[in-house]
Amino acid sequence: MTTSQERGMWGSRLGFILAAAGSAVGLGNIWGFPTRVGQGGGAVFVVIYLFCIVLICAPILVAEFVLGRGSRQSPVGAFKYFSSGTRWWWVGALGVVTSVAIVAFYSVIGGWTIGYVWYSATGALSSGGEGAGDFFTQFTGNGFKGVFCTFLFLGLAAASNIGGVRTGIERVAKTLMPALLVLLVLLAVRSLTLPGAAEGLAYYMRPDLSQAFNMSVFGAALGQAFFSLSLGNGAMLTYGSYLRRSEGIGRVVLWVVLLDTFIALLAGLIIFPAGFSIAGFDPASTGPGLIFAVLPELFATLVGGRLFGGAFFILLVIAALTSAISLLEVPVAHVIDRRQWSRPKAVLVVSGSAFLLSIPCALGFGAVESLTDFVPAQWGGNFLGLVATLCNNFSLPIGGMLIAIFVGYVWRVDRAVAELLAEHAWFPAPRLWGLLIRYVSPLGISIILVISMLAVIM
Ligand code: TRP
Repeated sequence: MTTSQERGMWGSRLGFILAAAGSAVGLGNIWGFPTRVGQGGGAVFVVIYLFCIVLICAPILVAEFVLGRGSRQSPVGAFKYFSSGTRWWWVGALGVVTSVAIVAFYSVIGGWTIGYVWYSATGALSSGGEGAGDFFTQFTGNGFKGVFCTFLFLGLAAASNIGGVRTGIERVAKTLMPALLVLLVLLAVRSLTLPGAAEGLAYYMRPDLSQAFNMSVFGAALGQAFFSLSLGNGAMLTYGSYLRRSEGIGRVVLWVVLLDTFIALLAGLIIFPAGFSIAGFDPASTGPGLIFAVLPELFATLVGGRLFGGAFFILLVIAALTSAISLLEVPVAHVIDRRQWSRPKAVLVVSGSAFLLSIPCALGFGAVESLTDFVPAQWGGNFLGLVATLCNNFSLPIGGMLIAIFVGYVWRVDRAVAELLAEHAWFPAPRLWGLLIRYVSPLGISIILVISMLAVIM
């Protein structure tokens, strides 16, 4: 097992905030959030999502960081450290397996993004018009292109992980985040000034309460909240394990939650007004192609749209890479800590296994019909959707619930709070946090899980 002396550390607290924010901000915000808002019927989804973030997920983010920083271990080791001789380490193991599955489908979408860098730059997308959706369908339906782009994305993520999780990400995120923010704000302004934008804005911001009776919305919103904050599988726990004890957790959590939520909301502000300004647009039926159909249309309305499009997709690829690196880090840190493998070996074996699962994910968009046919719509509609639904709507919330129960009842809140406040760290409302982690998070998650089960069965 690695001792704390050999264990790498973040360069500074800013570096850690950047890395954690780099993990959180990714395809989940810009691709996943608008897609699921569209499938979930608009503003009602947004409201439920925000409740999940504040009441359920933010407290668990604190718990993951404090478990990691307190134990200096990757997930399995962290549970063994705080409760040796029990089976709680299974929660860590669930996180390790889930991470590999998420990397697998995440890389497929990351691969599409790489493809779109190429197509924007070469002008293949700039035609705009009704063709954008068809272009996406054709592109993702091509099995060779799908698998090749996935391979490229996963290869880049693996190489960056080997190259150094701790120094590289800090540097990349420092320039990437501001650039991405500026570009997103510009695009939102453009989108909001398009003809027909008001209708999209209303869809996005004015709740249609009849949607709240659509039970699958709750599970989707909770799953999206977990996914977006990189929560429930020990990714943030692992990052926390590289944090010095002298660095406070309160500010980091605040920054990560605010930044992640802001960028997701901004993405919706870009996609829906622009989407509704396109004739015949139906947010619910576009599914995973939503942003890939809408954004090229938006770029086509801009002077220098090709340049904007290219720059946007490059930034999105980088944001997705900093997330994928953190996903890889869970299984990688696990085998490094428990089996003393070298980092390159660990990364190769982990990403190799993820790639095998990526292949059927990439082929389920028309290339191989049987990978689509057997999955009902409420389970995601194709093989990738199935893996994503199992991970996001079930495995991550279950992992998060168990983390909350562990910290609240096994390790216990008073000890966790003592660790949080160590070295005079700033942490607001520790008692409120205790209540959230003991009661609100676990109960909220169990209720939503039951509702999701019912939604799937009925
Ligand atoms: N949060 C990232 C995104 O929104 C994806 C991600 C990175 C993730 N690490 C994770 C999701 C761990 C779940 C668990 O794109």
